[in-house]
Amino acid sequence: MEQMTEGDLTAEVLARLDATPDPRLREVMRSLVTHLHAFAREVRLTDAEWMTGIRFLTDAGHITDDVRQEFILLSDTLGLSSLVDLINHGADEPGPTEPTILGPFYVPGSPERAYDESMVEYADGGEPAVLVGRVLAADGSPIAGAELDVWQNAATGFYAVQQPDEQPATNLRGLYRTDAEGRFRIRTVRPVPYPIPDDGPVGRLLTDTGRHPWRAAHVHLIVSADGFEPVVTHLFDRTSAYLDSDTVFGVKESLVRDFVPGGDGVLVCEHDVVLRMSKAG
Ligand code: BEZ
Ligand code: FE
Repeated sequence: MEQMTEGDLTAEVLARLDATPDPRLREVMRSLVTHLHAFAREVRLTDAEWMTGIRFLTDAGHITDDVRQEFILLSDTLGLSSLVDLINHGADEPGPTEPTILGPFYVPGSPERAYDESMVEYADGGEPAVLVGRVLAADGSPIAGAELDVWQNAATGFYAVQQPDEQPATNLRGLYRTDAEGRFRIRTVRPVPYPIPDDGPVGRLLTDTGRHPWRAAHVHLIVSADGFEPVVTHLFDRTSAYLDSDTVFGVKESLVRDFVPGGDGVLVCEHDVVLRMSKAG
C-alpha cells in the first residue's frame, strides 16, 4: 500500500460515501467531509486542539437535558441558526413578517388567554405594557381567529421555564386569538435584555473569543392561521441594548418596535403581523 497523503485521505472518505442510498444524505455528507477536512488543513489542527474540540462537544452533551439544549446554543451563537433561517425564509418577497430563531425557551401548551388578558402571573416589578396589532394577509385583509403563541422573559431576565421554583410555569406565556377584525391585545410587561445560559461550554467559548452573552429585549411569537404559513418571530424593543450585537444574530430591523406611554401610563407597543398564504392553499 502506498503512503497516504492528506488529499488521498479526503478522497478515500468521500469515495466511501458513494454508496449512500439517499441522494440528499450523500450530498450533505460529502460536503460536510469536504469542508471539515479543509478546515483542519487550513488551520493545521494539532492533536491537542482536536482533543479540546472533542471535550467541548462532550461537555455540551453532558449539560444538555430536556430544558437545556447546549447544541442549539452553539448553533445560535455561531450564527448557524440564523443562517439556516435566512437560507429558508430570506426576504424573497417584501411584505410577510420576517421570521427569526425559536430559541430554547419555547414550551408548547401555553394557556389560552382572552383578548386583552394579562399573561403576568408573577410580580417581577416590570413596566406594564400592552402589545396591540392585527394579523393580516399580504393583501392587507385582516385574519380573524389567527393564533398568537407568545412568550417572553420576566423583568428579572429569566423565562418561567428557567425558574421552576420561582415563577409559575405559565407566567408570561399565552395563546391569544385575533377578533373578527384580526386584532389582538396582550397585557404584559416590557421585556428586558438577558444573557443566554453561559455557565456551560458555549459560555466559555463566548468568553474565550471576547464575546458577550446578551440578547436584545424581545417578545417571542409564533403566529398561525388556517390557509397561511406560520411564522416564528420576535418583536424587539427599539430602546434595548444589544440590538446591534445580539449574541445569537436574531435581530432584524423590520421586527424592531417602539414602546410608547399610553394615556393610562401603560406602555403600548403596536405590531402588525403579516402572514404568507400557505403553498397548499
Ligand atoms: C431566546 O431568545 O429565548 C434564546 C435564543 C437563543 C439562545 C438562547 C435564548
Ligand atoms: Fe428569548
